[in-house]
Amino acid sequence: MRIILFTGKGGVGKTTVSAATAVKCANLGYKTLVLSTDSAHSLADSFDIEIGNQPTLITDNLHGEEIDINYEIKRNWGPIQNFMQDFLKYRGFGSIIAEELSVFPGMEEVFSLLQLKDFYVEDSYDVIIIDCAPTGDAFRLLAVPDIAKWYMERIFNVERILLKAVRPVAKRLVDMPLPSDSVFESMEGLYKNLIGMKELLTDIEISSIRLVINPEKMVIKESQRAFTFLNLFGFSVDAIIANRIIPEDVKDPFYSKWKDIQKKHLTEADESFRPLPIFYLNLLDQEITGIELLSKIGDNLYDRKDPTEVFYNEKPIDITESNGSYCLCIKLPFATKENIDMWKKGEELVIKVDKYKRNIHLPRFLTSLKMGNVTMEGKELKIRFGGEGDGN
Ligand SMILES: Nc1ncnc2c1ncn2[C@@H]1O[C@H](COP(=O)(O)OP(=O)(O)OP(=O)(O)O)[C@@H](O)[C@H]1O
Ligand SMILES: [Mg+2]
Repeated sequence: MRIILFTGKGGVGKTTVSAATAVKCANLGYKTLVLSTDSAHSLADSFDIEIGNQPTLITDNLHGEEIDINYEIKRNWGPIQNFMQDFLKYRGFGSIIAEELSVFPGMEEVFSLLQLKDFYVEDSYDVIIIDCAPTGDAFRLLAVPDIAKWYMERIFNVERILLKAVRPVAKRLVDMPLPSDSVFESMEGLYKNLIGMKELLTDIEISSIRLVINPEKMVIKESQRAFTFLNLFGFSVDAIIANRIIPEDVKDPFYSKWKDIQKKHLTEADESFRPLPIFYLNLLDQEITGIELLSKIGDNLYDRKDPTEVFYNEKPIDITESNGSYCLCIKLPFATKENIDMWKKGEELVIKVDKYKRNIHLPRFLTSLKMGNVTMEGKELKIRFGGEGDGN
């Protein structure tokens, strides 16, 4: 089974590209499911048909589902949420605030994704396409099981044993709500599910993330940040989709300036994401809805390629740590140390190889550290940060 997730800034065309990719996959004969995890669903608008909260038949080989987020929250988070609400109310928060605070950003989306594991185990589909919410919070949360694991192992178990002993006494002494065994059980169950999800989504052969961009400065900057973050936590981005390109044959003078601006940003996108492939989609003179148009868009976008292919399966950026210093490893297959020029610009590392430039958004913890020595090992550029005896 293949899982392909589309994410990117608000309004860039995630739903449209997800729908077009799904239609293309179905046309190629793959049993396809397209899911939307964004609480502001718009898949149904894109296909121009009703789509329910269970897999709904759209056309041959293609089902769609707009996940019922409230149901998924209740199912996965209910007992924990009830406890948190009681606790927050006890601490003086009003019920509305307590309810709002008991669900974290990104959580809705993570819960929606938990279904994936079932589809995977049942081998229900050849390919699942996911139209993600614009924030990327879900990936941030999915990166967390590592921290959750540490927490559960060290603190939770100890606390649970202690609580068993003190709960009857504590209950009489304070009226503070204490977590019951069912809260702990829900927590453990959820944690296991999250680990399973992370395994599925970080399996390079199964899951790929595709970043949808528009040739605009702010959009590219945000996607660079997402790209670094996703790489860092082991999620594989295998392609970039550049949407809303003004077609060559538009000669209107109003658009000629815009075409130049787009060209500049497309060069920057290329410098930021290379060696990932970029697929291009022109701006159309109409909104994109309905299967027929989506099918055409899918053909244009992927040309003769099969969208279920893994377009890139290496980690272009990796960060390793040893003894308090970090090593940023960047794949530069065509460079030698002699033709590399490099500098740090705010949160960005700019690497120039001959006439090509590459911009890498540094994770926050690296921006504050001194850059140390730089070596080229095989096809990898290794840049050290922090630690003793660094130069700059
Ligand atoms: N290449 C294009 N040409 C013309 N219209 C487009 C193109 N791509 C997207 N659109 C239109 O732009 C609008 C927004 O696209 P879409 O809903 O796919 O974006 P989104 O990234 O999913 O937005 P959101 O972040 O709100 O979920 C839609 O009306 C869609 O039909
Ligand atoms: Mg959308």
